[in-house]
Amino acid sequence: VTQQALVSGNAWPGLVTPQVGRTIAACKRWAYTRGSFMTERLWRGCLTRRGAVRAVAGFLAGSPLIRAQQDPFRDHSRVPGLGELKTTFDFEPVAYAKLPRYTYDYTSYGADGEFTLRRNREAFDWVDLAPRPLAAGGRPVSTGVEVLGTRLEYPIMVAPSAAHAALHPEAEVATCAGCAAASNTVLISSGVASLSFDKIAASTKAPLWYQLYPSRNMDDNRKLLDVVQSSGAKAIVVTVDQQAPVSERIQHDRNLQRPPGGGGGRPAAGLNLYGVWKMFDELRAFVRLPILIKGVMTAEDARLAVEHGLNGVYVSNHGGRSVDYEESPLEVLPEVVDAVKGRVPVLVDGGFRRGADILKALALGAAAVAVCRPQRWGLAAYGGAGVQRVFEILQAEFRLAMAATGRTSIASIDGSIVRTYFP
Ligand code: FNR
Repeated sequence: VTQQALVSGNAWPGLVTPQVGRTIAACKRWAYTRGSFMTERLWRGCLTRRGAVRAVAGFLAGSPLIRAQQDPFRDHSRVPGLGELKTTFDFEPVAYAKLPRYTYDYTSYGADGEFTLRRNREAFDWVDLAPRPLAAGGRPVSTGVEVLGTRLEYPIMVAPSAAHAALHPEAEVATCAGCAAASNTVLISSGVASLSFDKIAASTKAPLWYQLYPSRNMDDNRKLLDVVQSSGAKAIVVTVDQQAPVSERIQHDRNLQRPPGGGGGRPAAGLNLYGVWKMFDELRAFVRLPILIKGVMTAEDARLAVEHGLNGVYVSNHGGRSVDYEESPLEVLPEVVDAVKGRVPVLVDGGFRRGADILKALALGAAAVAVCRPQRWGLAAYGGAGVQRVFEILQAEFRLAMAATGRTSIASIDGSIVRTYFP
């Protein structure tokens, strides 16, 4: 009755006693107050347009999708197992997640706007392979080669790079362990390694070359190289290009995370301030090992190197860290090979990340290639095992690329398997 009365407004007045009437009035009052309270609450809880936009923006800002776009590498949620990494590129995100920002940027940066850094990679897109799988005639692929008296199971070496202790506590010892496990890959040990060369050499049976940043004081060079030679180095690589004195990435990082010592890049040693060729002539007097010059980017310098009796020319632009707007080493390789005319082996580095890249360089005349950053990512990500895996991946890819182009020995790799479209 009460309900009906409320709905119809005293539909049956005859039924309504004063008592019932009072009850109905009380119910109506309750319903109105309660109702308006509910409505107001509902209304207040309702989204305004501004509120809706704010809510969506808040959701997006906190969304893992957006965060992934801002910082695609930094994901601490899960480190993939070593066996899950399929290409050398896969090691970089893992290293990024593990390293302090400054250390990551120290390895990855290039000079200035990083045009050359990008071009070093892009150049491989300007060389096509011409597969002739049938040319192999069912023979097995053999990848071994000898360069300046050092036996290489694959024409792939580790380029010299500074201070491996920043990447892994076992530093160059771990690098060497990885190299030894990957078919005795040759490490060109950096002149600014974390450990001294004799310690590195004592830790491994794998062959080592030594990279020298020459001092202006020839006596210092002599003392250093005496130790290097007696520790079993198989060749000396003298670097003549320079890392850019300032890295923009690292300069920016100083606002985020001050590197140890507060430095933002080291000053150039100014090698070009004194006579490079005279220096080589003086080194020759006491170096019994093959000497290579690293950092050649022109036919003219390659010719001079041979004239000064150097035993090998190493084409490199320091991984795009020296001068921005240089060409890539792959592009200048043919002219250097042309100038050298087979008198000494030509090595090359810069941007090598796949087996096919290595095949392309050999087809353009290189005797072997060197790889830097992938080794550093492997070391930072998984220590020696990571270095080993990086080189095993490159070796397997290289072997496949050889087979696909119908080449069964290093000597049989020639210019006929590539077409170049350099700008
Ligand atoms: C280098 N590089 C280098 N070269 C050298 O002669 N002595 C050195 O100590 C170093 N140190 C060094 C540190 C780091 C972090 C990098 C990335 C590079 C240059 C190196 O040997 C090589 O020329 C290039 O890095 C090759 O290019 P990719 O393979 O890194 O693209």
